[in-house]
Amino acid sequence: MATEPESVAIPLLARVAQAIERAGGWLPFDRFMTLALYEPGLGYYANNSAKFGHLPRDGSDFVTAPELTPLFGHTLARQVAQALSATGTDEVWEFGAGSGALARQVLDALTVQGQAPARYTIVDLSGSLRERQRANLAAHAGRVHWVDALPERMSGVVLGNEVLDAMPVQLLVRLAGVWHERGVALDHAGGLAWSDRATALRPPLEVPGDHDYLTEIHPQGEAFARTLADRLERGAALLLDYGFPEAEYYHPQRAMGTLMCHRGHRSDSNPLVDVGLKDITAHVNFTGVALAAQDAGLDVIGYTSQGRFLLNCGLLELAHGADVRQNAMMQKLLNEHEMGELFKVLALAPAASAEGWAPLGFAAGDRSHRL
Ligand SMILES: C[S@@+](CC[C@H](N)C(=O)[O-])C[C@H]1O[C@@H](n2cnc3c(N)ncnc32)[C@H](O)[C@@H]1O
Repeated sequence: MATEPESVAIPLLARVAQAIERAGGWLPFDRFMTLALYEPGLGYYANNSAKFGHLPRDGSDFVTAPELTPLFGHTLARQVAQALSATGTDEVWEFGAGSGALARQVLDALTVQGQAPARYTIVDLSGSLRERQRANLAAHAGRVHWVDALPERMSGVVLGNEVLDAMPVQLLVRLAGVWHERGVALDHAGGLAWSDRATALRPPLEVPGDHDYLTEIHPQGEAFARTLADRLERGAALLLDYGFPEAEYYHPQRAMGTLMCHRGHRSDSNPLVDVGLKDITAHVNFTGVALAAQDAGLDVIGYTSQGRFLLNCGLLELAHGADVRQNAMMQKLLNEHEMGELFKVLALAPAASAEGWAPLGFAAGDRSHRL
């Protein structure tokens, strides 16, 4: 059932206002973002809006690679197949599975190759997407499972496409040379307003200059990497998302940060408007994720652009004979000015699973040294 905007926005705003009052008048942005995206039944990822799709007329807000073309998941499946067999594991874990499109593509391709895993487990904060995933994955019903929380120990190949960018971030802003944390307060009319407080928090790299500068830090994304490291005993993880290494992230010229909202295939930079009705995201600092994972015991086994990764995995070969439409979608995945360069792939593995094989997606053009 489609979401009526008022049925979400009004009660969610009341919930946010209550949280602000309870917190003494000021909420750090990551707590606001958690409510806006994940508050049960109301947050953007917890309500019934369409979210993923090609066009505004289907009620969708943005398109992700698996929604563009099945060639994405079929190509990724080659890396998954290699990683499963190299690490001697038999399960795929997908975080934030969206409509289930990627799971469908990966399972279809692995089944055709005779390498279907024993289990494909979906971990999603968004319970509202589960029915959609179940319908999309009916052909693989026996293999697909859902969990709300991770087990203490897991093994297999972990996938996360555009999951890190949906994790709440803290906002830091340097104003007249002084660092502040940007949070959310109530204005005189009871609406939401930005409010900055001096802070000892800093970006992980010093940002040269003394010009005003807005940016994000990613404690939740980094905690996610540590949790993965603690729990993944055997196997590998592939995290795909838009972002950069930290030297690019905290470049002095990136003075407005990367926070963005998406609604009806349009983007804007004001998350305080239409709360619960639009996606809120920030780019990923891949250095931060890699360091957190490494400190907690995972090795970085590859880092490159999505375009390079897909070419290394044989996208062109798989696309041989594709029709004009599929070719156009494939170009979007590869082109530098679309998803090919901004999107990256980071591969991690526990030390014991990292030895004795080289992941094929990073065979040429690995950029781990740039993290
Ligand atoms: C931008 S959507 C991407 C959906 C899908 N992977 C795709 O590519 O179409 C982000 C998804 O990540 C989920 N998510 C965010 N944080 C998560 C976490 N810590 N564990 C599991 N899922 C999470 C959200 O609920 C949402 O479904």
